[in-house]
Amino acid sequence: MIERIELRPGYSISRVIKGGWQLSEGHSQINYHDPIRDMEAFVASGINTFDCADIYTGVEELIGNYIRKETKRGTLDPNLKVLTKFVPDYNQLPSINKRYVESIIDRSLMRLGLERLDMVQFAWWTYDIPGWVETALWLQELQSAGKIDLISSTNFNTAATAEIIDAGVDLATVQVQYSLLDHRPQKSLIKLCQKYDTQLLCYGTVAGGFLSERWLGQPEPITELENRSLVKYKLMIEEIGGWGHFQELLRLLNKIASKHGTTLTNIATRYILDKPQVAGVIIGARNAAHIEANLTLSHIELTSQDRDEIDSFLSKVGQPPGDVFDIERDKKGKHGRIMRYNLNQK
Ligand SMILES: NC(=O)c1ccc[n+]([C@@H]2O[C@H](COP(=O)([O-])OP(=O)(O)OC[C@H]3O[C@@H](n4cnc5c(N)ncnc54)[C@H](OP(=O)(O)O)[C@@H]3O)[C@@H](O)[C@H]2O)c1
Repeated sequence: MIERIELRPGYSISRVIKGGWQLSEGHSQINYHDPIRDMEAFVASGINTFDCADIYTGVEELIGNYIRKETKRGTLDPNLKVLTKFVPDYNQLPSINKRYVESIIDRSLMRLGLERLDMVQFAWWTYDIPGWVETALWLQELQSAGKIDLISSTNFNTAATAEIIDAGVDLATVQVQYSLLDHRPQKSLIKLCQKYDTQLLCYGTVAGGFLSERWLGQPEPITELENRSLVKYKLMIEEIGGWGHFQELLRLLNKIASKHGTTLTNIATRYILDKPQVAGVIIGARNAAHIEANLTLSHIELTSQDRDEIDSFLSKVGQPPGDVFDIERDKKGKHGRIMRYNLNQK
């Protein structure tokens, strides 16, 4: 039921990926479910690719507990893929060295209870401090030593991605924000990725849940939002021109969804899944509530008229400026101010 894609020979992932940020201590205060049981449900449904990060506090450990439990029972899905990240702290960047990189990779291995990481997606907070190419090459050495299967990146713009690739690093994927609210990857990154067989893993496709029936016809929220994901994507709604434009988008998606007998969330997700070079969408999951909806994604076939209507709407509204993650890198700007830059020491 869930589409799959091969990233490199013999290495495949589900095209819907379970996002892990929502389980981290820093995301929100609500923690009322059983995350291990939810992981079982995701894997049973075919969504057996999990995204996480060294900086999502407690999440590598949770997935490690799941892996240990399944291994003990002899039921671990051999196709499970855990895509983690290496996000060195901002304060660490000036003095980063190979030993530090290896210590974080070893810590992820230990937390996950694995001998080799399926994927490490590498991030770098600022281009003002050089060192990202050297760090990518150290990751490559750890790959040669057998500690990492695939190397990927997250949130680099096109120029920095090209530098890493030019240095000889085979980037299997780039993880970037790509949604109906944010098409920055279309400006130049996708073209580069096409040249090097690098696929996109996309976050933000459902905008923290804003792109759903829950917000259709609702007034703009003025009280504090429930979690950090919503705070982040509310800023993206401002980039397209604000709540009025956003409601217009929801109405359009809802109209298309009614025609297909599905949800507007699924239309927003399918639209991105169908874009060139997109391998998968990472959908944040606080629990297993949306699995059923995710499973119906593969049945939706958008028509050229659906796509034209969406494209025509998007051509009329604003877009986040710059290349991928450029505005988020500005620590003093509204997108950068909400980031937490030194989470790795926790
Ligand atoms: N590389 C990076 O910098 C980066 C940044 C952000 C995220 N990520 C990754 O991407 C993942 C996704 O995070 P995100 O912040 O972009 O969140 P998101 O996936 O846009 O939103 C997740 C929320 O949307 C709602 N939702 C999910 N499926 C739905 C459906 N079918 N129908 C209606 N609502 C639905 C759920 O809210 P409710 O639980 O309230 O229903 C869920 O918690 C993260 O977990 C993380 O793994 C990476």
